[in-house]
Amino acid sequence: MSVRRYRIGAPIPTESVVKDIPAEEGNLPGWKLQTDKEGIVSLSISMTPDTIVYGLGETLRGINKRGWLYTSNCTDDPHHWEDKHSLYAAHNFLLIVSEDSCLGLYVDTPGIVDFDIGYSRIDLLSIRLNDGAADLYLVDGFSAPRQIVREFRSLIGQSYIPPRWALGFGQSRWGYRSADDIREVVTKYEEAGIPLDMMYLDIDYMERFKDFTINRETFPDFDQFVQEMRSRGVRLVPIIDAGVKIEEGYSVYEEGVQNGYFCRKENGEYLTAAVWPGRVHFPDFLNEQARAWFGSQYRFLLDKGIEGFWNDMNEPAIFYTEDHLKEVFEGIEQYRDKNLDIQSFFDFKSLVGSVDNNPEDYKRFYHAYHGRKIRHDKVHNLYGYYMTRAAGEFFTRHCPDKRILMFSRASYIGMHRYGGIWTGDNRSWWSHILLNLQQMPGLNMCGFIYAGADMGGFGADATEDLVLRWTALAIFMPLMRNHSARGTRRQELYQFTQTAAFRNLVRLRYALLPYLYSEMMKAILQNDMLMIPLAFEYPADHRAAHVEDQLLVGGSIMIAPVYQQNAEGRYVYLPEDMTLLRFRSPEDFDREILSAGDHYVPCALHEVLVFLRKGHVLPLAQIPDDDTFRGSRDLKELPLQYLAFDADPAFYEMYRDENFERN
Ligand code: GLC
Repeated sequence: MSVRRYRIGAPIPTESVVKDIPAEEGNLPGWKLQTDKEGIVSLSISMTPDTIVYGLGETLRGINKRGWLYTSNCTDDPHHWEDKHSLYAAHNFLLIVSEDSCLGLYVDTPGIVDFDIGYSRIDLLSIRLNDGAADLYLVDGFSAPRQIVREFRSLIGQSYIPPRWALGFGQSRWGYRSADDIREVVTKYEEAGIPLDMMYLDIDYMERFKDFTINRETFPDFDQFVQEMRSRGVRLVPIIDAGVKIEEGYSVYEEGVQNGYFCRKENGEYLTAAVWPGRVHFPDFLNEQARAWFGSQYRFLLDKGIEGFWNDMNEPAIFYTEDHLKEVFEGIEQYRDKNLDIQSFFDFKSLVGSVDNNPEDYKRFYHAYHGRKIRHDKVHNLYGYYMTRAAGEFFTRHCPDKRILMFSRASYIGMHRYGGIWTGDNRSWWSHILLNLQQMPGLNMCGFIYAGADMGGFGADATEDLVLRWTALAIFMPLMRNHSARGTRRQELYQFTQTAAFRNLVRLRYALLPYLYSEMMKAILQNDMLMIPLAFEYPADHRAAHVEDQLLVGGSIMIAPVYQQNAEGRYVYLPEDMTLLRFRSPEDFDREILSAGDHYVPCALHEVLVFLRKGHVLPLAQIPDDDTFRGSRDLKELPLQYLAFDADPAFYEMYRDENFERN
């Protein structure tokens, strides 16, 4: 048996696993178990100096997770600094690889889990179950890490499949206020000759930030607008937030209240929190009826011709709760007219700072989950997953033959069956280009294949060189979306001077799309990965095991992006002989065979480095160099060119499905 289950305590079910594996008696073999006075359970295992720990999906730091403390606690925190412990997701899968062993461990519990991977003790990996309960799935019996991943993935079920057009390029910004703003962006993309498949609608398309409404003043004829955009080859992808605005006469609010679909406090009242719309109630996505009801709301937009969504603020993010805000105002009173000494000044400040995303607020409300009343903090990590599941289950009921684009900010393993993710509010920082690359293998291991980061960075002002370099990486990500925050410098690709370079980068993306789509589909259908650490393919190569800034993308190529400002190139490690393809555009590239080993490879701002593996083939769509090519809808007519390195192009197996042909 390659997957074994051990149970600690009585964990709350998550429905992340699709196979029913009976729990074994006894302790997890090889691990030391301890329970402290508070009932917190820790399990630990020693690591040798060569041990590499992969996994944890959306987290901070490197591909090798060693040397830090990670906490699974879905958190709305836009400061993705190196010293943070949590982002928006809880992906509790680890892959522990040593010279003589290879082991996968999935810690299935909705509670908070700390993964201390050589942080407290450099040679110790310890896992703290704050709720004292979990189903532990141990995957072993294979020496290849990728085989462990496949076993784990078959345990959690097949990943979500996006429509093919969702692999096109998308533009987003929080701050497009009206249909005219959107039109202007699309026109400028057309004028710049840069293909575009999607325009994302952030919260401003709604009427006062109410889910499933349209602002009729700024988007006067929405249905017609959707069609107008479609005729220009662009799909609109609106955002949906978790909180439902409290407002008399607003049907979503009223239906939710009447049917008891919102989360309640201990005293039976609905919890009142505040997010973008002001005061809201949170739908109880964990309650089956509430979930079906919320899912059916997406119909409002599907009926208008919308085919894709992004779910946001679903940790859930809380700006404040009415109850805690009251406490804060009361607390502040004691400081009024006082001479604040250092201590009281800091106490005052932290009182004010405790207003948003306060852990105590997550203990104020309840869910009706599997017929049980469960306090939110016990199932906190499931909330985003179940919001996206609400949508996914509805799409399956409503339009089983159609693929709907769906991705979420918060997630837990299991959600990968219903949607992809984006990695939230990163910044226009050079280090976040690298972070984007480093997050992908962990995400893939946990089933999130359709994933990507806000290209160009969400927060902070972007520079032209940063956006160029980031775009050169993002053309390999299944989700390629330029998104930025209100108030930051505009970063649509036509805003900068090197329009031709941007245009060619995006054209190259489309040239690569048949390959990317094909490799993505193989990864999904074979429970495999698309973005793969070098170590997985070259297990005997010690150097490859420690490469943190290069990845294999699918079976044929390796990427090595430039992520430092003012660099004219970079060092690249080749585990075997490869053909360097230096692209300036899909048709303008040179080829050079490089031998295995280290190379300094120059790479100008408008260039992209692709390394073609020996014995492999890279198909490229021949994108016309004129304005006739607008995006994915123009792809299927195009011939493919096959670039090969010591291989017969006939051996490249292109994955084709009816959707590929239909879209
Ligand atoms: C959150 C999202 C971001 C979005 C903003 C406004 O910060 O992460 O992508 O633009 O809310 O809706």
